[in-house]
Amino acid sequence: MTQIQVGKPVKGSQLIGREKEVLTISKLLLQGQSVVLIAPRRFGKTSLTLEILNRLKKQDIYTAYIDVFVTPDLESFSRKITEDVLNNRKLGKVFKKITGNIVEVFRNIELKQTIESFEFILKYSSPNPNVWELFSDSLDFINSYPKKYDRKIICAFDEFGDIKKFDGDKIVKMVRSKIQFQDHAAFIFSGSYESVMETFFVKQNSPFFRFARIIHLGYIGRDEFKNYISATLSDNEILFNEKFINEILDFTKGHPYYTQLVLQQILLNKSTGLNQKNVSLFDILQQLLIVENNYLEKQWEDISKSRELVQTLIAVVKYGKSLYSHLDTKKINPGRALKKLTGSGLLFRENKGYHLSDPLFELWVKEKIINS
Ligand SMILES: Nc1ncnc2c1ncn2[C@@H]1O[C@H](COP(=O)(O)OP(=O)(O)OP(=O)(O)O)[C@@H](O)[C@H]1O
Ligand SMILES: [Mg+2]
Repeated sequence: MTQIQVGKPVKGSQLIGREKEVLTISKLLLQGQSVVLIAPRRFGKTSLTLEILNRLKKQDIYTAYIDVFVTPDLESFSRKITEDVLNNRKLGKVFKKITGNIVEVFRNIELKQTIESFEFILKYSSPNPNVWELFSDSLDFINSYPKKYDRKIICAFDEFGDIKKFDGDKIVKMVRSKIQFQDHAAFIFSGSYESVMETFFVKQNSPFFRFARIIHLGYIGRDEFKNYISATLSDNEILFNEKFINEILDFTKGHPYYTQLVLQQILLNKSTGLNQKNVSLFDILQQLLIVENNYLEKQWEDISKSRELVQTLIAVVKYGKSLYSHLDTKKINPGRALKKLTGSGLLFRENKGYHLSDPLFELWVKEKIINS
């Protein structure tokens, strides 16, 4: 059975579509232009980012990838930056051993020499390092290390919006003041909360205003997914017709995560002997609503605190473009609600209308909230 990657980032030939994005973004980065990647959850930001870095690596460009979401504090954030930068010369692993005991580290001749040029690295071995100093030094290191070897570096900060958790303003200002002068580095900043990313990059008074090119990631191209789905179903000896594939894509719209999830479920049903003859999308989706129930409930929980958000979201699902005529605008402010829902990545704006970016969540709202 074909392995369908659902959840973890997809790599290489597993990555469907996104070729245009890979090329455009790589080109910008190589010109020294930093890029902001904005898309709702599970749209493939991490996959795309890693793919770009992997391809650039093959062109002898240095790279670094830091997921801000999983770094709990400023010290581990700094460490991760230093480690990833060092890893371009395979020194990440030895560096990781730097704790109280530095003897072992000095056994590695290249790291020893590196420390001679970049003394700050030793600070990681002290019991109570000044974390702001470490952070500042690690930011400088992103540029000075590749410079020493006459290379360029592309550094990705995934879930960058999460940087607020450290110390909002101060850290953002420091990042900006450092990296704006770095001539050997360009950056990818990615994030799912549109509104958070906007406060960093888009608004006129935002710290990174005009610093980076904004790229909104959409669904995957229909044709690319069509080919992939057909090939996967054929490989697994599942009978299908074109109508079925269209049905799948009409539902997922090319949402990468859900398209993969549907496919995975079809293969799973086959291998467990279920659904052998007539695969029905309806049945698959009912199964997925159960599989994804926790995630979907959590999404609902987040908006259900506000009546305004709930009513507006329901109106979007039920009435689409004509939602305004169905809302009591004396009691709620749909404009404000739509802005909030778009800002959190839940809604997409398209041709003056709005729709949910998450197709399964839309189905969930229809079944669990509207028709119950
Ligand atoms: N280009 C793609 N081709 C095929 N599948 C993809 C693609 N992009 C994403 N996926 C699917 O979506 C899943 C999530 O991808 P990824 O983790 O890159 O998204 P993300 O936007 O970073 O998600 P999160 O918001 O959770 O960080 C993958 O496991 C894979 O199943
Ligand atoms: Mg991600």
